[in-house]
Amino acid sequence: MNTRVFKILSEDDERQLSEVASILRSGGLVGIPTETVYGLAANALDGTAVKRIFEVKGRPQDNPLIVHISRFEELAPLVDVVPEKAARLADAFWPGPLTMVMKRSDAVPDEVSCGLPTVAVRMPSHKIANAIIKAAGLPLAAPSANTSGKPSPTCAAHVLHDMNGKIEGVVDGGNCEVGIESTVITLCTKTPTLLRPGAVTLRQLADTIGDVEVHRSVFSDFTETARPASPGMKYRHYSPKAEVVVVDGALGSFIEYVNKQSAGSAVLCFEGEESSFPDAVVFSFGAKEDSRAQAQRLYSALRKADELKIKRIFARLPDTDGMGTAVCNRLLRAAAFKVVKL
Ligand code: TXA
Ligand code: MG
Repeated sequence: MNTRVFKILSEDDERQLSEVASILRSGGLVGIPTETVYGLAANALDGTAVKRIFEVKGRPQDNPLIVHISRFEELAPLVDVVPEKAARLADAFWPGPLTMVMKRSDAVPDEVSCGLPTVAVRMPSHKIANAIIKAAGLPLAAPSANTSGKPSPTCAAHVLHDMNGKIEGVVDGGNCEVGIESTVITLCTKTPTLLRPGAVTLRQLADTIGDVEVHRSVFSDFTETARPASPGMKYRHYSPKAEVVVVDGALGSFIEYVNKQSAGSAVLCFEGEESSFPDAVVFSFGAKEDSRAQAQRLYSALRKADELKIKRIFARLPDTDGMGTAVCNRLLRAAAFKVVKL
């Protein structure tokens, strides 16, 4: 299959938007930019199209997809009822990097929710994503557009690397602003529960709707066989081929520890620390206190390391405040929770 590339930089590019929309309406798959990461989109109401998403990604059959909408009115038909807290969260954070899990309606095919009684919905703020949903006139099911288990794509080249020849098209909308996947919260538990941290922080959620619990999988390995609340959390995730070792310690001990064994390895450090590692390939992922920059650069650094065939990456443990929770969560998963404490 020839994967067409559409370079769409403005929501006024009606000709290309309508070509992309027609691929989606006829059941095709298209990689689309969003503000978080690129998504692999299909008509969410077409079970056959959605099934193909699982095939091309190699995604486990029990890991449901997020449905993307472009207007708040599109939520009601997908859910049983719109919970009051969902309306408040939407008011505060939509369009934007927040996904809400609610009881689903019959309009949502089993293929999307993998048989769960719930559906995850998000309204992206990326202008091109929004324009594509509008042009298609459909809710779009879209997981991240990577091969299952690999770091999520933050530019069109990443999507092509994993999906070229397997899907109908990719829309190149530039680099993703956030760089890691959306925050996921479920409103189906007694107290709303954070299932996946992201750019919308726990504090922001709690300021909007009161008590929010944090699912235990957020900071720990979650491989229990009991069906987890967010099935995606039980898989090894976001990982490059290289072994990732997260190192928790002061800069001085990190430098000493890494330089003893860094030949042929890479280092993921904070801005300004680059010159301390003469034998390693060095990636800087933003200043120590700048979680937003770290999020933006994390996945491209992991992908670059694979391109360079690096065997091992030593990573500095980021701050865990605010959005740092999300950066840390992804890095720990990439490392399969391997942390060296100095
Ligand atoms: O930022 C994002 O959310 C990106 C962009 C493309 O929108 N999408 C994304 O999708 O990250 P994906 O499939 O890679 O991650 C979806 C996560 C998974 O952890 C999945 O288990 C969870 O959301 N999820 C989806 N539906 C769910 C449901 N009904 N109940 C609980 N968790 C659900
Ligand atoms: Mg994903």
